[in-house]
Amino acid sequence: MILVLGGTAEARELAVLLQHDGVEFLSSLAGRVARPRLPVGEVRIGGFGGVTGLVEFLTEQRIAAVVDATHPFAAGMSANAIAACGQAGVPLLRLERVGWAGAPHAEDWHWVEGHDEAAALTARVGARPFLTIGRQQLGAFTGPLAFAEVTARVVDEPDVEIPPTWRILLNRGPYTLEGERELLTRWGCDVLVTKDSGGDWTWPKMEAATELGLPIVVVKRKPEPVGVEVVSDPGAAAAWVRQAR
Ligand SMILES: NC(=O)c1ccc[n+]([C@@H]2O[C@H](COP(=O)([O-])OP(=O)(O)OC[C@H]3O[C@@H](n4cnc5c(N)ncnc54)[C@H](OP(=O)(O)O)[C@@H]3O)[C@@H](O)[C@H]2O)c1
Repeated sequence: MILVLGGTAEARELAVLLQHDGVEFLSSLAGRVARPRLPVGEVRIGGFGGVTGLVEFLTEQRIAAVVDATHPFAAGMSANAIAACGQAGVPLLRLERVGWAGAPHAEDWHWVEGHDEAAALTARVGARPFLTIGRQQLGAFTGPLAFAEVTARVVDEPDVEIPPTWRILLNRGPYTLEGERELLTRWGCDVLVTKDSGGDWTWPKMEAATELGLPIVVVKRKPEPVGVEVVSDPGAAAAWVRQAR
């Protein structure tokens, strides 16, 4: 049995490839969003209970190999996977989409180390920010941007208190260039804030902001883990699974 740690488009693409290959696999989701997009095949939902819980799971379920295809900013799960697979002696592959550092105009963006720095900088460069950093990180922005006219886009209702000047948009995409252009113009946004999520899925907002000449604040990724093989393409991950099982 192969375990795919998911919650991303890449994990869903990998599930399709593994099913096509006739591989026995199980996809795991954290259970953060109310109505998750489900991959094909068998799915389990919920945390494992830290490294100890994951080691137990790997052993009990006789997991032959793990593909960590979680989001580039799901750092806790990735660290747990490295520790647990090391302890259980299970091969681990990291499937992670390429970031935007090499994308057109990336050198013009404001790259910051974390969400607190992003919030402080955003408060200085804009009065009407468009926040696309996810629901879980909103708390870092509510203080510094308490009086800004923020438009924040999230998948599920926020669980922190939202300032009265903020507008919350519930949406999960997919997004088009035309739609993003229209949104930024309609709400008069003057700065875009995002994580370096990478990939094509959320790229149209970057194009639209660039076209409109808006500053873009980008939260950097953590450095890649050492000692773990990393691929960026679901096809390469499927090939790794074929030789690992
Ligand atoms: N962070 C983002 O920006 C983002 C964006 C899009 C999608 N996602 C997806 O949402 C999920 C949660 O992200 P996060 O940033 O909250 O993660 P995180 O901070 O790295 O993980 C926190 C805890 O959630 C549980 N968990 C996370 N991913 C899991 C998975 N695939 N299967 C089972 N348990 C999981 C684990 O709990 P235990 O310690 O109890 O095992 C983990 O220790 C991830 O699967 C990720 O791929 C995240």
